[in-house]
Amino acid sequence: MEASIAEQLKRQAATSALEHVQNGMVLGLGTGSTVTHFLDLLGDRLLTGELKDVVGIPTSNRTTGEARQAGIDLIELGDSSRIDLTVDGADEISPDLDLIKGMGGALLREKMVAQSSDRVLIIADESKSVDRLGTLSPLPIEVVDWGIQGHVQFIMNWGGRASVRMMSNGENFKSDNGNLMLDCRFSDGIKEPAQLEAELQARAGVVESGLFLKVADVAILGTDSGPIELGRKS
Ligand code: A5P
Repeated sequence: MEASIAEQLKRQAATSALEHVQNGMVLGLGTGSTVTHFLDLLGDRLLTGELKDVVGIPTSNRTTGEARQAGIDLIELGDSSRIDLTVDGADEISPDLDLIKGMGGALLREKMVAQSSDRVLIIADESKSVDRLGTLSPLPIEVVDWGIQGHVQFIMNWGGRASVRMMSNGENFKSDNGNLMLDCRFSDGIKEPAQLEAELQARAGVVESGLFLKVADVAILGTDSGPIELGRKS
């Protein structure tokens, strides 16, 4: 997909997501280029007074900066007893609205905020839609920087290939939490995501996985023929 078309479709999904935002809401604010569009649009609505008394809980340092720039008031996770709605992007979306997230490096805080939210709304362009998780995107896994080879072997036993995420300057990528990220590629996708997630959650040294299963309530996909809204069935 051409880059400028992808940006248009992301903005289309972000615009549609604004219809779910009401005055007085506490919003979880995800991370990534699609969320950047949402923050920009939300900032405009707050500036014009079309929306009022909305506060956000950012999931990354990047989002904190972008939200401040857009004039959105911010609080921290735990400052409010509830989060009404979280709006976030995704790297892959399955037909059941299960997700791979974390290519933006923010999966731990994204999962913490999503788990504290009454509703989770995912926005993306249609290229993120897949039949099986792990077919287009690697699965990011945030790990502590000790004993990584054990996780690499674990992923190999699952038929995948794990590599430590690097930055363009050749240094290891570090999350906002100071951890490393393993990007795990599976040539035929992930056959049993729920089983893999359970095993990852049981592994010491794994901080969090980018499998977001039964987390999303609604997804809005930007498409050539307009936004499509999908609800989770189970
Ligand atoms: C951030 O860690 C990710 O989970 C993002 O939500 C994901 O990478 C989507 O980013 P884009 O909106 O840039 O595709």
